[in-house]
Amino acid sequence: MIRDCATLPLMSRADTHSPTFTAHRKHFLSDRVEHFTESVIREMTRQAMLHNAVNLAQGFPDFPAPPEIKQAAQQAIAQDINQYAITWGAKSLRNAISRQMKSWQGIEVDPEKEVTVCCGSTEAMISTLLAVCNPGDEVVIFEPFYENYGPDSILSGAKPRFVKLRPPKEENGTWTFDEKELRQAFEKHTKAIVLNTPNNPTGKVFTREELELIRDLCVEFDVLAITDEIYEHILYDGTEHIAMAALDGMRERTVTINGMSKTYSVTGWRVGWAVAAEKITNAIRKVHDFLTVGAPAPLQEAGAAALSLPAQYYVQLAERYRVRRDHLIPALTAAGFRCFRPQGAYYVMTDISAFGFEDDVAFARHLVEKIGVACVPGSSFYRHPRDGAKQVRFAFCKKPETLDEAARRLAKLRLTS
Ligand SMILES: Cc1ncc(COP(=O)(O)O)c(C=O)c1O
Repeated sequence: MIRDCATLPLMSRADTHSPTFTAHRKHFLSDRVEHFTESVIREMTRQAMLHNAVNLAQGFPDFPAPPEIKQAAQQAIAQDINQYAITWGAKSLRNAISRQMKSWQGIEVDPEKEVTVCCGSTEAMISTLLAVCNPGDEVVIFEPFYENYGPDSILSGAKPRFVKLRPPKEENGTWTFDEKELRQAFEKHTKAIVLNTPNNPTGKVFTREELELIRDLCVEFDVLAITDEIYEHILYDGTEHIAMAALDGMRERTVTINGMSKTYSVTGWRVGWAVAAEKITNAIRKVHDFLTVGAPAPLQEAGAAALSLPAQYYVQLAERYRVRRDHLIPALTAAGFRCFRPQGAYYVMTDISAFGFEDDVAFARHLVEKIGVACVPGSSFYRHPRDGAKQVRFAFCKKPETLDEAARRLAKLRLTS
């Protein structure tokens, strides 16, 4: 969670004898880490373990990964693919990424010059921001936002500039943004917009019209689009994923970020990637090299196998998540939550006004300690905690029996609160 979103305190060198400077030196801490806390999402997983709660907080599947890709990983280790891969990614995986982007999005990608494989899309995002941002640059981010983007922009020296996504009035409606507010966020210091579609935490899938509007602003203000498309295959109700890089005029000004975690249920493998034009890729590769050297070599080989699974795999993936969504939402509704029905990704944002708690954090604490279900407080997705004080998020990337158990426990909620 972000503590204070002003640009980093750019303390002038002349201030080095001030009491503040001495205090900072004494604690051996950089100023930049003062501006955000540890991840609330990951903290909720620790709370779930502590209280033996059903973990619907963090977005990791509790069911097995596909057997084919586990075999491919085992085989790669047995074949002694156990040393550093090429820094920017094993050739087999880069080729597979390029093939996939062509077949799914119609985007031609040169695997030699335009792909950087990283330790998860998490590293791809921070490497990209470090590669493109200077102090004083601004990065536009829709909020509620995936928790990492705030700290990522602060760590890269940029100032996040938030634009609100507003919840739908009806259960089946979609989150929307105000065109004027978005336009106002773009100005001469804007370096990039970070976009996540399908979106965590709202489940929004940006439409072609919305993406074209963002595209037009990017072109007008000469801004880069950094698009996190990690949930691209998890779509419901006939919605379509549109890749920003596929829109006219965006190929050269988009960094597409993706990874294995969500599509192949292997969040612990830490394999992701950034796809961008050669010049931007060169900069991302430099940062990536000195941050991590490379992603796990045998798991990259397994990644190449995963990206070669037949189209049916993706159809099944989305359908299984639809079933889980339609399993959890009625249980939440019956327990007293107002649910915002997701069109993509595997989270449900909910409104908790009916429970009368002081705020989302008090509610989440009650839920994990007394009911035995972990969720994520809504405030961790907003710049100002008050904006998320009436919301919590649930993840449904869980076995049916896990969701059953959560439903059983949630049914006690009305009686205890
Ligand atoms: C939008 C979004 N991006 C990135 C990540 C992290 O992805 P990875 O495991 O590839 O680092 C998550 C995980 O929850 C996410 O929701």
